[in-house]
Amino acid sequence: MKNRMPNDNTKTANLVNYRDPTLIGLGASIVLTTLVIIGSRNLEHFDSALFGYLIASIVAFGAIFSICIVAAASGDAGIFFARLKLFFQRKKFVRNTIDATKTVGINMLAQKFIFERAKTRWLMHFLIMWGCILSAAITFPLVWGWIHFKLESETGYRAYVFGFPVQSMDVHSVMAFFTFKALNFTALMVLAGCAIAIHRRLKDRGAIAVQQFLLDFVPHLLLIAICVSGLMLTASSTYFGGYMYSFIALSHQAIVIMTLFFLPFGKLFHIVQRPASIGVELYQQRAKEMEQAKCRRCGVEFASVMWLGDLKSVVEKVGFDYTMENGEKLQDYCPRCKRVMRALHTPGPNGSPR
Ligand code: HEM
Ligand code: HEM
Repeated sequence: MKNRMPNDNTKTANLVNYRDPTLIGLGASIVLTTLVIIGSRNLEHFDSALFGYLIASIVAFGAIFSICIVAAASGDAGIFFARLKLFFQRKKFVRNTIDATKTVGINMLAQKFIFERAKTRWLMHFLIMWGCILSAAITFPLVWGWIHFKLESETGYRAYVFGFPVQSMDVHSVMAFFTFKALNFTALMVLAGCAIAIHRRLKDRGAIAVQQFLLDFVPHLLLIAICVSGLMLTASSTYFGGYMYSFIALSHQAIVIMTLFFLPFGKLFHIVQRPASIGVELYQQRAKEMEQAKCRRCGVEFASVMWLGDLKSVVEKVGFDYTMENGEKLQDYCPRCKRVMRALHTPGPNGSPR
């Protein structure tokens, strides 16, 4: 088998072109900047104290966009877009939409697949994910000037979205309490989730054997630092008459910016990658209804012809060659036969074939 191994990626390196992704990333940043200008009504509702957050979020947005393009170009984005037409097939469009909605609800929002691994892992992820999503949903629109609050009377505030008045509330109402204190609740959610994750990482032997500090601990430490500095802001303004408030606010800002810039390079990038895999389940469901390929060795049907073709094309594009001595591709064999063939090729204890 002339099986070029993973580190032989010269082909991949040649395929990656950084100019287009950089230009697309710059374009994404320009689009976001334009939306900030429009949404904040010509920066009228933009809070200049949040300038650092604004610049960081615009740069991080463009960087994430361009890294996604680089990642897609080094795989085979062409196949992804070509297969999108499966979704839009006229006869199956309604069924596809129902299936996709179910996948989003069950796997993305409720994260059933993590629940199946362990309930505590599900709780850990649920708290971290929803804590971060809610925090982002509150802070980004505020930073971009899309939402602002105006004092209307002695004790009455009105919320404005994109400059349009929406909801008024009394400062002492329950709604105002949850609106203005929401970040403290999301911070507690994230802290609880990180505590469960770190506890597992310190106790679970399986996790201890494979985990790395940068990959598995740094994301939690960054999230904890954001939450603690955020909660310290509340403590400072509520209980200590604003003591050290600007220093803590600057620390919160610095950690948030570091985390935004770290996002594309660490584990947290799965926030962007994972949702892109929604289509995989749909693809597998539709592939089952198509012509099936037979294993070259045992003749059993094991995958669709389309799936095998796509797999061969992607594997080749990322620089692997699974052509065997007989000229056939390893992918043409079912998983069971692959295992049998591997065992037959593995030398026995004295170097003799098994
Ligand atoms: C704001 C969104 C999200 C945040 C902040 C987040 C954060 C995290 C963190 C910190 C971990 C590491 C936990 C550990 O140390 O064990 C993790 C694990 C994981 N995440 Fe996410 N995540 C997000 C969204 C998603 C989404 C949308 C998916 C998939 C649909 C996903 C799937 C996973 C999976 C499968 C794991 C491994 C969980 C396990 O079994 O232990 N995440 N996530
Ligand atoms: C896990 C994510 C985050 C959590 C848990 C969090 C938590 C907090 C908390 C608890 C506060 C204090 C709120 C109060 O005084 O009642 C705060 C303040 C703030 N946060 Fe965050 N935050 C997060 C992410 C972000 C992000 C992504 C941004 C910007 C894009 C941001 C920008 C701010 C700003 C501007 C303030 C007000 C600080 C000031 O007065 O200067 N936060 N945050």
